[in-house]
Amino acid sequence: MPSVLILNGPNLNLLGTRQPEVYGTTTLDDIEALCAHHGKAIGLDVSCAQSNHEGALVDAIHAARGLHNGIILNAGAYTHTSIALMDAIASVELPTIELHLSNVHAREEFRHRSYIARVAIGVICGFGAQGYVLAMDALKAHLSHEV
Ligand code: DQA
Repeated sequence: MPSVLILNGPNLNLLGTRQPEVYGTTTLDDIEALCAHHGKAIGLDVSCAQSNHEGALVDAIHAARGLHNGIILNAGAYTHTSIALMDAIASVELPTIELHLSNVHAREEFRHRSYIARVAIGVICGFGAQGYVLAMDALKAHLSHEV
């Protein structure tokens, strides 16, 4: 069964109480449970991790090589700043989907730039927690078309 790392970045541990008008009331635990449940339904092995630290996220991406077949990454604010995360994804050569709960393009201009998008196979944003389910479906389809 293909395996996916679902990696969440800074401040996403606070989901549920963090700016609910922007990010909703679903907690990170709820999202991880949703992903585990959906993984079983579509035949995708799911591992979840979260860190507030850029280097720890780089380490998690490196560790994914050989262990997982793809990555779903909500890098939070590091999306807009981190060349290190972009380089890490390019280095491990795992298909990666960039994900955001909010529609970053409808928000402040500094959220319109993404370093991750340059190395991602695609970007999903604006669908709240449901975005994780959409990203899993997209990654599963991508992996089944790989030779
Ligand atoms: C976010 C969007 C980012 O701009 C922000 O810094 C976050 C969350 C999202 O899921 O909508 O922390 O990645």
